[in-house]
Amino acid sequence: MIHIEKIDAKNVWDVIDLKLKREQKHFVASNKTSIIQAYTAIGTACSAFPFAVYNDKKVVGFLMVCYNEGAFYEIYGEVPPSALVNNYSICRIMIDKKYQGRGYGRATMQAALDFIKTWPCGVAEYCEISYEPENKAAKNLYASFGFVENGEMDCDEVVAVLKL
Ligand SMILES: CC(C)(COP(=O)(O)OP(=O)(O)OC[C@H]1O[C@@H](n2cnc3c(N)ncnc32)[C@H](O)[C@@H]1OP(=O)(O)O)[C@@H](O)C(=O)NCCC(=O)NCCS
Repeated sequence: MIHIEKIDAKNVWDVIDLKLKREQKHFVASNKTSIIQAYTAIGTACSAFPFAVYNDKKVVGFLMVCYNEGAFYEIYGEVPPSALVNNYSICRIMIDKKYQGRGYGRATMQAALDFIKTWPCGVAEYCEISYEPENKAAKNLYASFGFVENGEMDCDEVVAVLKL
């Protein structure tokens, strides 16, 4: 049974130890980087919600949901994809290489959307997600939840949105 729990002092090291296949590493920031980004987002216009993904009592993956205001991107002098502004995003999702292909990614996506629908930052119209064009596993997974590419790019990643 897959469930998500907030990152805390107990599970953070298990999350940092999770591994991807060599050819997947460039698809997603390291979990250490993501947790640092979540910490440094505190007090900014981006709210980040990092989670450990559990199969029963075992940590098998990492998930980060964000709620973004445009101002967050202004820090970098960049224009955000319009789908990001005042909307939720599933900004990180990964399953450890040992546990891929067992339905855990799909269950994690469902857990992310269930969390978003508790509206932790208020009601929003869209959930945004982005991926490298060659990341077929991610593209197929997101499309199966109804995410549709909207023609925007986030740096070199394709943007897709789901109407909530
Ligand atoms: C993407 C990822 C999270 C999927 O997790 P997973 O647990 O392996 O996925 P699941 O077993 O739940 O499979 C769900 C769906 O994903 C798609 N999928 C998964 N692996 C796939 C592959 N190798 N090729 C094509 N589609 C694939 C399929 O649509 C699959 O549905 P199906 O089983 O009905 O065909 C995982 O591959 C991963 O961690 N990848 C590296 C990190 C990454 O790319 N994260 C996303 C960044 S945008």
